[in-house]
Amino acid sequence: MKNISAVILAAGEGTRMNSNYPKILHKLGSKPMLGHVMDNVQIAGVKDIFVITGYKSELVENFVADKASCVPQKKLLGTGDAVWQIKDKPSLNQKNARLLVIYGDTPLITSSTIKKLLQKHMETEASCTLLTVTTKDPTGYGRVVRNDGGTVVKIVEEQDATVFERAIEEINVGVYVFKAEELFTAIKKIKPDNAKREYYLTDVIEVLNKQNLLVNSVETQDHDEILGVNSRQGLARAYAIYKMRILEDIVAAGVTVLDPQTTFIDEKVKIGRDTVIYPYTVIECDVVIGENCSIGPFCRIRSGCDIGNNVCLGNFVEINRSSVGVFSRIKHQSYIGDTTIEENVNIGAGTIVANYDGKNKNKTIIKSGAFIGTGTILVAPVKIGKGAMTGAGAVVTKNKDVPDKAVVVGVPAKIFKKQKGK
Ligand code: UD1
Ligand code: MG
Repeated sequence: MKNISAVILAAGEGTRMNSNYPKILHKLGSKPMLGHVMDNVQIAGVKDIFVITGYKSELVENFVADKASCVPQKKLLGTGDAVWQIKDKPSLNQKNARLLVIYGDTPLITSSTIKKLLQKHMETEASCTLLTVTTKDPTGYGRVVRNDGGTVVKIVEEQDATVFERAIEEINVGVYVFKAEELFTAIKKIKPDNAKREYYLTDVIEVLNKQNLLVNSVETQDHDEILGVNSRQGLARAYAIYKMRILEDIVAAGVTVLDPQTTFIDEKVKIGRDTVIYPYTVIECDVVIGENCSIGPFCRIRSGCDIGNNVCLGNFVEINRSSVGVFSRIKHQSYIGDTTIEENVNIGAGTIVANYDGKNKNKTIIKSGAFIGTGTILVAPVKIGKGAMTGAGAVVTKNKDVPDKAVVVGVPAKIFKKQKGK
């Protein structure tokens, strides 16, 4: 979108998290809260993004890298002071510059809600458009105060609110779009005369209203979206909502998830139709699973796995950085790491790939039609040939590749016979 920049406030320590790390770096799924906010802002169409850093800024800067420009806030004097840090940025001093302000601790606000807010702001030519929600439990949030005509006149923080104001159920979510010039002029006028002795960004609303500048609002109906994470309890609540959103998308794409409560699937996972996910399954990021598979119960598929169609991964199977070809089966109690399993392979119960020698992670290849006997240990790097078999309890040692069709047994495994046929 033209003339629009965004600023994400991420300088706070988040004392209520009781942590050694900045609050906004705590993860929701595989990425920090700040990553969710950055991605959502970008998907909504804003490319010029600033992130305000403060507490342990080097950690935040490392995470942000080249995805946005970090701007330090030396003293954490409040959200108004945080936004003030970018007042001299050239993109904000252009004619008609607009600024989207969003907090780094609201990871559930969707890109479509941000888009709606931006659209309404552009259509109405308001000085500020803010996102609100009406909730029966407004505890902890700033209340939106309107006059008799319904116009937003100010936002009052909970600690500073009168009993009457506390009873207001419409709250400030913490996402706003401003005309940049009017915003910075208004910030100059705010004072830290409140319970926290901070420069509240929210005080800008009253300043704009007093100047007869239009403050508009968009009300979201999705109560889940607004959750600002201020504590570990809040993080757990946010994760539960986020997780369910992912599962809803997966189920809508034709996958059966038998027990959503005990199933954890990352947002960067693709699963084909008619695959069934049994309870207590964890699927981490960057995993692709084909159609008609049976996964779990108690299965963990870690990052970087590619599972073909009609594959069965059963109970207590952990698989990591590996691929499994069509119609292959790993049904019980196995660890498979850094392995390429081709099609129609059977991995017997209790098979372990010893992929780590203490220094390096080594590769294993299991060619099509191989049959790995119960309790086999494959010490990587090693290759099991086409249609080859290992006996129960065999230990195939490193670099002792098993030829096509061979049957190996024992510890260390030795060729017992060669099967007939091609
Ligand atoms: C804020 C809003 C409140 C709103 C709520 C929504 C203000 C004054 N209050 O309260 O109206 O209902 O969010 O979740 O804005 N930060 C900085 N620098 C600072 C202070 C804070 O960058 O000096 C950052 C924090 O890292 C955080 C965000 O701003 O990401 C919001 O700060 P927080 O302390 O969480 O504000 P709330 O009390 O939640
Ligand atoms: Mg907050």
